[in-house]
Amino acid sequence: MKSITTRHLTPNSGGIAAAANILSAGGLVAFATETVYGLGADARNDRAVAAIFAAKSRPSFNPLIVHVADVKTARIYVQWCDIAARLADAFWPGPLTLVLPIAADCGLSPLVTAQLPSLAIRIPARPSARKLLAQFGGPVAAPSANPSGKISPTTAAHVAAGLSGRIDAILDDGACDVGVESTILDLTGVDGNGLGKTGRGKTDAPVLLRPGGLPQETIEACLGMAITVHTPDTENGAAHITAPGQLASHYAPNAPVRLNAAEKRPGEMLLGFGETLDADLNLSPSGDLIEAAANLFRYLHDIDTSTAPIAISPIPNTGLGRAINDRLKRAAAPRPT
Ligand code: TXA
Ligand code: MG
Repeated sequence: MKSITTRHLTPNSGGIAAAANILSAGGLVAFATETVYGLGADARNDRAVAAIFAAKSRPSFNPLIVHVADVKTARIYVQWCDIAARLADAFWPGPLTLVLPIAADCGLSPLVTAQLPSLAIRIPARPSARKLLAQFGGPVAAPSANPSGKISPTTAAHVAAGLSGRIDAILDDGACDVGVESTILDLTGVDGNGLGKTGRGKTDAPVLLRPGGLPQETIEACLGMAITVHTPDTENGAAHITAPGQLASHYAPNAPVRLNAAEKRPGEMLLGFGETLDADLNLSPSGDLIEAAANLFRYLHDIDTSTAPIAISPIPNTGLGRAINDRLKRAAAPRPT
């Protein structure tokens, strides 16, 4: 791939306008959301969307999330339903992605959905992202702004380290506050929805495809019902992968990772949680899961500087702990050869 100059933009009015112009011209802009940095392109432009896959070296079977400024715009691209409306009211803008039947002839590049009959869509909360989306005025396809399979970026420096020379610009808005990706909820099987029960799990309930920045418990409390947790269909392998987060090895540091480490072994770097003796870095010395999620990817980047194996303290599996443990499990999984 030919190297290009990556511009560093500040999210003032000039920088946002420049970033919106790059998107309009079919370019790639990395921008901060409340979860992680996204690598954005005009979701209606085939060449621009293809350039995302090329810049990330991303397997093309992985569909992308479309980011929009408001619910009115979202409804151009998906078939809306009551549950979507309730969730959008409660949690948008915010770290929740809804998977809904795609609207017919809505003008999105087929590359965005990898030709699935559904579309993943969200309204990010970060003010600079919302300004960019409003100014651009269209749908922005944006996966996390990291080379495929690597740790998601939560600062502009992470983005530059992975993608500099491969993308047009980085809109630098500091560190992301949530720090793990959005929760992905599949509504294609819920009642009154276009895809009926042909959706995943053949259930009427919403299906959690990826735990993320919005805890499962919070969604269940809002809906007053339990949601089904998707378990990847290993028999069918890659053909059925609907989220790269479902690939066994993902978010991988370079060094090997050991989970639920009760202690630090000789030669290891220890990433602690709560009161941890000998931690080289601690996700949250006070044991706060929100703080730990916000620090997770930055600390994984920081601790992954040598070949020293990384040990990680146990993290409670509740609230944001589910998303943290999900990412850590994949970081520790055997790597594809
Ligand atoms: O927080 C986030 O969600 C970040 C920021 C940038 O918004 N984005 C992000 O994108 O994490 P990405 O591409 O790294 O992960 C998107 C996930 C993928 O796992 C993809 O397979 C899944 O969404 N996805 C996209 N479209 C889908 C669909 N129609 N059905 C099921 N899963 C879908
Ligand atoms: Mg990603």
